[in-house]
Amino acid sequence: MKGRVLICAGSDSGGGAGIQADIKAVTAMGGFAMTAITALTAQNTVGVHGVVGVEPWFIRRQMRVVLDDLGADAIKTGMLADSATIEAVCAELPRDVPLVADPVMVAKGGHRLLDPSATETLKRVLLPFCTVLTPNLPEAEVLSGMTIRTEDDMHRAAEVMLTLGVPAVLLKGGHLDGERLVDLLATPDGTTRWEDARVATRHTHGTGCTLASSIAAGLAQGMALEAAVARARRYVRAAMLSAPGYGAGHGPLDHTVTLDPARL
Ligand SMILES: Nc1ncnc2c1ncn2[C@@H]1O[C@H](COP(=O)(O)OP(=O)(O)OP(=O)(O)O)[C@@H](O)[C@H]1O
Ligand SMILES: [Mg+2]
Repeated sequence: MKGRVLICAGSDSGGGAGIQADIKAVTAMGGFAMTAITALTAQNTVGVHGVVGVEPWFIRRQMRVVLDDLGADAIKTGMLADSATIEAVCAELPRDVPLVADPVMVAKGGHRLLDPSATETLKRVLLPFCTVLTPNLPEAEVLSGMTIRTEDDMHRAAEVMLTLGVPAVLLKGGHLDGERLVDLLATPDGTTRWEDARVATRHTHGTGCTLASSIAAGLAQGMALEAAVARARRYVRAAMLSAPGYGAGHGPLDHTVTLDPARL
C-alpha cells in the first residue's frame, strides 16, 4: 500500500459513485483512502432520491482529525453541495498537498448536486487550491461560460478555465456524442489529448468520481500528473468493460478489476 488520499465528497448509497466509488478506486490503485463526508444521498442507479447535508463544522472536524493524525499525500474533492460546504472544506485544506478537484454539479440522472448560487464560491475559494480540475462538459460550460459542441470548443474552454487560476484542467469528453471519445489535459505548457472508442454501455455511474480519485491516488504515490491521468483512464475503461450489470439505470463499474483474491 502506498499513498494516503483524503476524499471530501458525498455518499452514494448505491455504491457506484461518490465516496463509495472514491474509496474503491483509491483502494484498487493500492492507496489508502480516508474520508470527510459532505452529504448523504439516498441514491441508486436510477437517480438521487434524497439528500441530507452534513453540518459545515462537522465536515471540518472530519478533515482536521484525519489530517492531524494520519496525514494525506493527496486530497480529492467531489460533491460540495453549497457555498457553506465549499468554505468549510477550503478552511481545512492544506496548501502543500496536491488537490484533485472534481467540480461536481449534476448527477448522471440529472439531479443537481451543487446549488447554482455556489458556482462563484467554487471559482473564488476552491480553485486556488487546485492541482488539477476535472470538469465534465456541462460543468466546463458553466465554468467557462462557453457552449461546447465540438473538440475545438473543448480546447478553447480548457484554455478559458486555465485563466481561472488552476495549473491544469482535465476536460472529460464523455458527454459529447460520437463513437470516439476525447479527454484533454490542458496546462500552460501544452495539452495532452487522449482518444478512445466509446464503450457502448449504460454502466457509466461514477466514471467521473472514479477517474478523479484514481488520479489523486497516483499523485499521492508520487506519479507525475500526466502519468496519473493515463493510468486512471486505463482503470476506468477496464472497470467499465467489466461492469457487473447491476441496477435498472446507469449501473456501477467493476472497481475490483485490479484485484485478484485468488492469490490469497
Ligand atoms: N462510454 C464511455 N466509453 C469510454 N469512456 C468513457 C465513456 N463515458 C465516459 N468515459 C470516460 O470516463 C471518464 C469520465 O468522464 P465523464 O464525462 O463520464 O465524467 P462525469 O460526467 O463527470 O461522470 P459522473 O457522471 O460520474 O460524474 C472520462 O475519462 C471519459 O472519457
Ligand atoms: Mg462528474
